[in-house]
Amino acid sequence: MADQINQAADLIKGSEKIVVFTGAGVSTESGIPDFRSPGGLWSKYDPEDFTFQRFVSNEKARHKYWQMSTEFYHSLQSAKPNAAHIAIVELETMGKLDCIITQNIDGLHQLAGASPERVIELHGTARAISCLSCKKRYDRDGVQERIAKGDKAPRCDDCNGLLKPATISFGQSMPERETAEAIKRSGGCDLFIVIGSSLVVQPAAYMPVVAKERGARLVIINREATPHDYMADLVIHGSAGSVLPEILAQVK
Ligand code: APR
Repeated sequence: MADQINQAADLIKGSEKIVVFTGAGVSTESGIPDFRSPGGLWSKYDPEDFTFQRFVSNEKARHKYWQMSTEFYHSLQSAKPNAAHIAIVELETMGKLDCIITQNIDGLHQLAGASPERVIELHGTARAISCLSCKKRYDRDGVQERIAKGDKAPRCDDCNGLLKPATISFGQSMPERETAEAIKRSGGCDLFIVIGSSLVVQPAAYMPVVAKERGARLVIINREATPHDYMADLVIHGSAGSVLPEILAQVK
């Protein structure tokens, strides 16, 4: 592992334009469960119950969605950025970070001090609520209060449309601007570092492929193997919260 840490540090030292790509694995050490590890969210809930189509077409599905989302939000409220998030911000402080492309909806990169304009949230954010019809934005805590008072599927005060966290559910269209920007930045970096993602959900999992095809070096830091390990220049199987600070310590 020490040799891999040194290799990763050398790759970072030799790069100026790094894209960091994160998944739920970067936040598990902050107490937020991921999706596909044993005990992850998809071992407790069936993703089929949480598709966008189910949400918009079925009141009972909306109740179930808000139950799961409220449980997730409570874990979010007490979550703090961990050593992995902080190590990633150090790359920005060094002037080496082009951007962070994240699949996460927890906002912990920004809370750790990453510049918001350098964080591309491919799957939106759970920290805001919007109306699916008129797009009006609501403060999440205010909507959670309505739910705590018994409103099982809140609607918009202005147009009575369905309120939903500003996240992208399965079956919901991806945010066009963020997706295009992520592809562009993946294609323009000299080093692409994946941290804590199973790389099984598209189009997010396409980003490391774009980077590699356009000549970037690819590093994957993940607890388990991913389908893209074969194309990486370096794979480190370990916990982000301990591996990343060790790498940054070698870089400095
Ligand atoms: N350090 C390193 N890797 C970790 C850690 C950790 N502390 N904790 C978990 N992991 C790894 C797991 O081994 C797993 O391979 O992170 C990966 C997380 O994978 P997923 O749970 O599939 O999460 P993610 O890749 O972000 O999922 C993508 O799927 O359900 C959708 O929209 C959801 O954004 C999510 C998308």
